[in-house]
Amino acid sequence: MKFIVAIDGPAGTGKSSVARAVAQKLNFVYVDTGAIYRALALLVSTSNTDPENISEVCALIPKLKVEIDTDQHRTFIKLEDQIVEKELRCELISKLSSVISRHQEVREKLLELQRNLAQEINNGAIFEGRDIGTVVFPKAPVKIYITANSETRAQRRFLEIKNNQPHASYEDILDSIVLRDMRDKSRTNAPMLEAQDAVIIDTSHMSLQEVISKTLSLIQKAQTNKKGKKPW
Ligand code: DC
Repeated sequence: MKFIVAIDGPAGTGKSSVARAVAQKLNFVYVDTGAIYRALALLVSTSNTDPENISEVCALIPKLKVEIDTDQHRTFIKLEDQIVEKELRCELISKLSSVISRHQEVREKLLELQRNLAQEINNGAIFEGRDIGTVVFPKAPVKIYITANSETRAQRRFLEIKNNQPHASYEDILDSIVLRDMRDKSRTNAPMLEAQDAVIIDTSHMSLQEVISKTLSLIQKAQTNKKGKKPW
């Protein structure tokens, strides 16, 4: 059985960069589960499906193909044989993915998809999302909840996009982060939550390198004695 690391936390904490770097270092596969919700949101948007119509939203799920690229230590999402990536990273899709992820039926289907993916991975994987340690892999041998205060997250996001989007405003970004957190935390189904046995890392005053080192040391410690247990 492969070694699964669960990384959860709100948007903009740097958890994707940490997960990606750690997967490279350990020769694991990085699975961005938010991208799966985002790809479904993209399908909802392009097909003009009502995001509140659960059965129509669920009917789109079989179109999602998640492929593992072991050489690049990551997964790719294909919709009708096309890799989708940049299309997933806009404000509309951020919002829509958060909206559709509230539905229990959607989550159940995507839970199955994520566990099937884990079965296909040989060595180890870093699954990053909102409910990985609590719902998807509750028995993962390493669970990390990465967080940071909302102002720091908005500031990081603002610096990241301001060159490409000169009209971006820090206040708008902050508002949208606060709103998305609220939606993700307050939903009834698998809300964004730290697992009881998760290690919490607050990155507000940490560099990316410090968070990567801390994560690697938690994984290395756990790897010595827990390899091989089923993560759910
Ligand atoms: O990580 P992200 O910002 O790309 O995720 C987009 C949305 O998808 C997020 O607002 C909530 C949802 N999501 C979720 O409900 N569960 C996950 N495991 C990952 C993402």
